[in-house]
Amino acid sequence: MAQSYGLLIGGEWVDRNGHKTIESRSPVNGGLVATFPRAGRADVKKAVKAALDAFPGWRATPAPARGQILLEAARILKQRKERIARVVAREMGKVIAEARGDVQEAIDFYEYASGEGRRMFGITTPSELPNKLLMTRREPLGPVGLITPWNFPVAIPGWKSGAALIAGNTCVFKPASTTPTCAAEFVGALTDAGLPPGVMNLLVGPGEEVGEAIVDDERVRGVSFTGGVDAGRTVYQHAAARLISCGLELGGKNPVIVMDDANEDLALEGILFGAFGTAGQRCTATSRVLLHAKIYDRFLDQLVARVEKLRLGDPVDESTDVGPVHGEGQLKKILGYIDVGKKEGAELVTGGRRADAGKLRRGTFVKPTIFATEHGTRISTEEIFGPVLSVIKIGSLKEAIRVANGVIYGLSSAIYTDNVNTAFKAVDQLEAGITYINAPTIGAEIGVPFGGVKATGNGTREAGPTAIEEFTAQKTVVIEYSGRLQKAQIDTAQVSGEGGARKNARRN
Ligand code: UN1
Repeated sequence: MAQSYGLLIGGEWVDRNGHKTIESRSPVNGGLVATFPRAGRADVKKAVKAALDAFPGWRATPAPARGQILLEAARILKQRKERIARVVAREMGKVIAEARGDVQEAIDFYEYASGEGRRMFGITTPSELPNKLLMTRREPLGPVGLITPWNFPVAIPGWKSGAALIAGNTCVFKPASTTPTCAAEFVGALTDAGLPPGVMNLLVGPGEEVGEAIVDDERVRGVSFTGGVDAGRTVYQHAAARLISCGLELGGKNPVIVMDDANEDLALEGILFGAFGTAGQRCTATSRVLLHAKIYDRFLDQLVARVEKLRLGDPVDESTDVGPVHGEGQLKKILGYIDVGKKEGAELVTGGRRADAGKLRRGTFVKPTIFATEHGTRISTEEIFGPVLSVIKIGSLKEAIRVANGVIYGLSSAIYTDNVNTAFKAVDQLEAGITYINAPTIGAEIGVPFGGVKATGNGTREAGPTAIEEFTAQKTVVIEYSGRLQKAQIDTAQVSGEGGARKNARRN
């Protein structure tokens, strides 16, 4: 039986009364996963008020104490990992091993963020004047909006809320409307860990209405968004109109360069995982292989043979390699791109259609697809967000870099080579937020910054030591303990060497 969940506003789970219903359906077989009340603008107002009311108390809670609650949430998530992973597999559609990884990524980051509560370092630096101290500290922004996608329905809320909460912000969280159950299960772990009422609020509803109303609310001080470029641009415009902080993590068209000196078996494994893991529905998914001409035919043959062996099926079945794509909307978009590829003359090497044999018919499955194409086609430059890989022949590192950089995005990138010089040249020249050497484009760890350049984002980085930057303002604190008025830039002649210069001028 499908469960019915509520919205979380000010510590209360608000059930249906007066609301329309949002149904979450599984991409595996169309089955009902759960129902939610559909939030509207009035709910946004209430949730923001709850977040604003909870802010002074949460902000005043010492960061290490906030960290204890995050650590407890991580412990609870660990206990519930298998149950939540099954919800992820059913509602999002990724295979169970990856669904466990999705939950694990949130656990990892919550553990990391809890420790940040004891660090959150500022700096002290010498003053140019005597008996004076300069230092910085981090302050929370206030109520912030977190808007997250369906493809990592636990990990991404984990990154964003972990950083926002440890820094002392309160949150209004709007997950993708197609993965609300994952979000509710995640938020349930936070409330059970003792997070005070109103510190985290959950709203389920459409982006154009609920997401926009969150960003437009004058009490909201920052927003963090992960999703597509078009929606990201809209969020940025609304945030810009209000001059509030805005973090964006948008698309990718992530290349793997395979040089002629690469360990080919390793590259093959990495490409299979990077391109067809999560059915290609990661911002970091490998969507282009830039394959050296010298090994092109042999490597492509092997790749196709391996791809054709991938098993499509129910994601909770441990032997399934590739689950469904995320619902009808994704199916239509991906098949549309496959049509584009055929029309623009790319060679369809394998796949290229919906998989609908037997039970698969009830879900939204796409055959893992490879096109051999040239750089510059739509399928080789636009984000497809599905199990569709473009393979492009390159003759040199120089050409590979030009092709790799010849897209609007810059999130992840990888090179397979056994030559250290080639590897470091690629690190120097690839326009990307992340470059992997001899490893796939997916699978970033939470200890390092995550984000991209160009149209992938606006410069913020999630995870790692940089995560809190998006959710904090730096306050510079100046302590004058000389007991007198000292004037910076004016009383500093001795320090800056000007006194000496003047003396020399007199001598001349
Ligand atoms: C995303 O697809 O938006 O690096 C996030 C990875 C994962 C996160 C992906 N750790 O593939």
